[in-house]
Amino acid sequence: MSSKTPYKVLCVCLGNICRSPTAEIVLRHYCDEANLNVMIDSAGTSNYHPNKAPDSRSQLHAKQRGYDLSALRARQLIHRDFVEFDLILAMDYENLENIQQLMRQAQQEFGASRIRAEISLMSQHDPDYPQQEVPDPYYGGQDGFEHVLNQCESSSQAWVQVFQKQFNPQSEQ
Ligand code: 4NP
Repeated sequence: MSSKTPYKVLCVCLGNICRSPTAEIVLRHYCDEANLNVMIDSAGTSNYHPNKAPDSRSQLHAKQRGYDLSALRARQLIHRDFVEFDLILAMDYENLENIQQLMRQAQQEFGASRIRAEISLMSQHDPDYPQQEVPDPYYGGQDGFEHVLNQCESSSQAWVQVFQKQFNPQSEQ
């Protein structure tokens, strides 16, 4: 990427303690590996777990694949995020609806011209999970957390390809 200003991506789920922190760390891993100037954060549409570390099950399963979630802390999505971020990624369709609703409020507060965020699904470009939700693992078993990781890895690799084309359109082969 030629510009020094990072492209800013916000991963969003309901609680910001299971799916979106996993997405944040996994997407960062693949962006770093591809040397992309992308800054990544995560947030929840709810304020159920303010300032809490990611769920211990998410941390454990992530750690088994080499991802460290321990430094993250949950926060709620706010109007200002629509001004600050370039891309907001929803883990499921309910998140997507709630994000779109909050964006309309942000447009009222800041004016439409100041809103820069595009909104998309985490799985938007994923060939293995096309436009599929990342299912909420919170009330389920261990396999749900593995599934979140599988989807985040697959969708993150798809986003890296999108970013590479977006940032360096001439280098496409
Ligand atoms: P997340 O999972 O949206 O992937 O962070 C959840 C975490 C907590 C709750 C729901 C979903 N909760 O109801 O407390």
